[in-house]
Amino acid sequence: MEIIETVYALDRFLRPFRDEGKSIGLVPTMGSLHEGHVALVKQCVGANDVSVVSVFVNPTQFNDKEDFRLYPCNSEADCKLLESLGVTVAFVPSVEEMYPEPDTRVFDFGMLDKVMEGRFRPGHFNGVAQIVSKLFYAVKPSRAYFGEKDFQQLAIVRDMVRQLAIPVEIVGVPIVREESGLALSSRNLRLSDEQRQKAAEIYRSLRFSADFVGKKSIQETIDFVTNRINQIESLRVEYFDIVDGNTLQSVSDWNESAYIVGCIAVFCGDVRLIDNISYKN
Ligand code: PAJ
Repeated sequence: MEIIETVYALDRFLRPFRDEGKSIGLVPTMGSLHEGHVALVKQCVGANDVSVVSVFVNPTQFNDKEDFRLYPCNSEADCKLLESLGVTVAFVPSVEEMYPEPDTRVFDFGMLDKVMEGRFRPGHFNGVAQIVSKLFYAVKPSRAYFGEKDFQQLAIVRDMVRQLAIPVEIVGVPIVREESGLALSSRNLRLSDEQRQKAAEIYRSLRFSADFVGKKSIQETIDFVTNRINQIESLRVEYFDIVDGNTLQSVSDWNESAYIVGCIAVFCGDVRLIDNISYKN
């Protein structure tokens, strides 16, 4: 596996593969890799001639400086893991490499980034679009892989690619969970064992509510999930929205859309966790 740190060297390495018409897959990550990332990487390696995994903790998407500072970093272990998975290139640029000067681009995602994560983390998706677009320009991938765990991010990336007319296929990969149901996340490293057990209640409640479709109202479902999670000491729901899976706007009736998803953010102590469940698809 090649470990490459600059856009120039990356381009020089990838160019012959492009010229030969080989497919290039890209998995953007912020490192501290876990089985959720591994699922994306395996799919990428399996479907493409060349696979590039970027490991870069992108400062522009952190609206909370403390969250950026505390974000875990294990690049040596990450590279070992990526090599064992058959990745062709680990791209590990510095902040100066990706942002030689401040990126002043402002994206317009309409209503897509006004809700949920976008509402509670202003500027977050603009930062995601900045780095993902730069990675797309640098790698020029045929396919790029994103997890459904970050459901809104996937919608934003699809919209960005459409707006900028970037020729890449965006592939969504299902959420990987611990046995307890807790969605894997690099931030789980910051949970104590006890918190980890409590955090499993998030998905348990979502799963339980899957039965409510068409039986209880949307509002009753929101109240049920929110109250059940808030009852657990040290868990606090920031938002739980039931939305149209394409527009991400709240629905008020189960019949309003054929594609309905429940998206949640929960603080477990000071660690912020997100998850989602597809109610109708
Ligand atoms: P990061 O949180 O490292 O996640 C990298 C990719 O792994 C994302 O597409 C995310 O949705 C996916 N992922 C994380 N946990 C997952 C799980 N349990 N199951 C399935 N997929 C999972 O998301 C980012 O980094 C950044 O915003 C990035 C896109 C790299 C831009 O900086």
